[in-house]
Amino acid sequence: MEHFIAGLPKLELHLHIEGTLEPELMFALGQRNGVTLPWPDVASLRAAYEFDCLQSFLDLYYLGASVLVTEQDFFDLTWAYLERCAADKVVHVEIFFDPQTHTARGIAFETVLGGIERALQEAERVFGISWRLIMSFLRHLSEEAAFATLAEASPFISRIHGFGLDSSELGNPPGKFARVFARCRELGLPVVAHAGEEGPAAYIWQTIRELEVKRIDHGVRCSEDPELVSYLADTRLPLTVCPLSNVRLKVFDEMAHHNVLTLLEQGLCVTVNSDDPAYFGGYLTANFQALVQALGASREQLCRLCLNAVEASWLSLTDKVRLTRDIRQHAALHGVILH
Ligand code: ADE
Ligand code: ZN
Repeated sequence: MEHFIAGLPKLELHLHIEGTLEPELMFALGQRNGVTLPWPDVASLRAAYEFDCLQSFLDLYYLGASVLVTEQDFFDLTWAYLERCAADKVVHVEIFFDPQTHTARGIAFETVLGGIERALQEAERVFGISWRLIMSFLRHLSEEAAFATLAEASPFISRIHGFGLDSSELGNPPGKFARVFARCRELGLPVVAHAGEEGPAAYIWQTIRELEVKRIDHGVRCSEDPELVSYLADTRLPLTVCPLSNVRLKVFDEMAHHNVLTLLEQGLCVTVNSDDPAYFGGYLTANFQALVQALGASREQLCRLCLNAVEASWLSLTDKVRLTRDIRQHAALHGVILH
């Protein structure tokens, strides 16, 4: 099975680039930039990765991101992630970045975008990995701050492929950003939002009705509303699910209780993703392996999850046809029958 997962062409649609900052790189960049971290070494930082909810993770995640200062830092961060993608046969990525985490510290928007984009372009050339870039708003900040960030981004909109919404979900319903997202859609770009990670099913409905999202990030709490599950199955509005993240942040108490395969069998367009892999104990391959170990996911189910990611991606039709063929070929090679 390990061999099967390793060779399966995989797509990642829910990945925060700041969440790929491994402790070793965090310390190296801290040293390079004269940023002092509140942990003495890598081992004690790793020991702090015990989260009891989303907020306890976010506090550490924003602190860690403070070592990112120069364009080269953002390049190095992104490049390290893309090297792993190449080794793990991740062939397409749609990456979130959080400009407000950096602009609030006086880092220019262009510095952040430039470094991430340069690594993506280089990885496309060297590894053949295709990509899209999603600029995400921090929902714990105000609507006004989001509008200001959108204005700051306006000279660079042609280099961005969509908009997202992340950070502390509880107490920050999607409707808070309805006007910002209306403006984003007017720019002609697709929008997505985190919803139903810690927040209730009502927040998922809000992203659909008030933000008009093209995908829902997480969305696992849809199970609490049968009408919503039917809607998602009928419309095939995709969910970008992150199993290891959900267990680490206590959305599910253990992987054996995760609902991703149930949702798959109910006909939803669910996909598997790694969210913040440096903090949650594994990249995309580890997420697939966890589904096999804890839930007994079959090879056929793993293939369908990848085919769903092709469907949910923002690739061109030509690329979707090519990747669908590649996944089906891999399945056939291993005697897996797909309907
Ligand atoms: N930012 C980074 N990871 C996140 C997550 N899992 N939920 C909300 N915001 C995030
Ligand atoms: Zn996320």
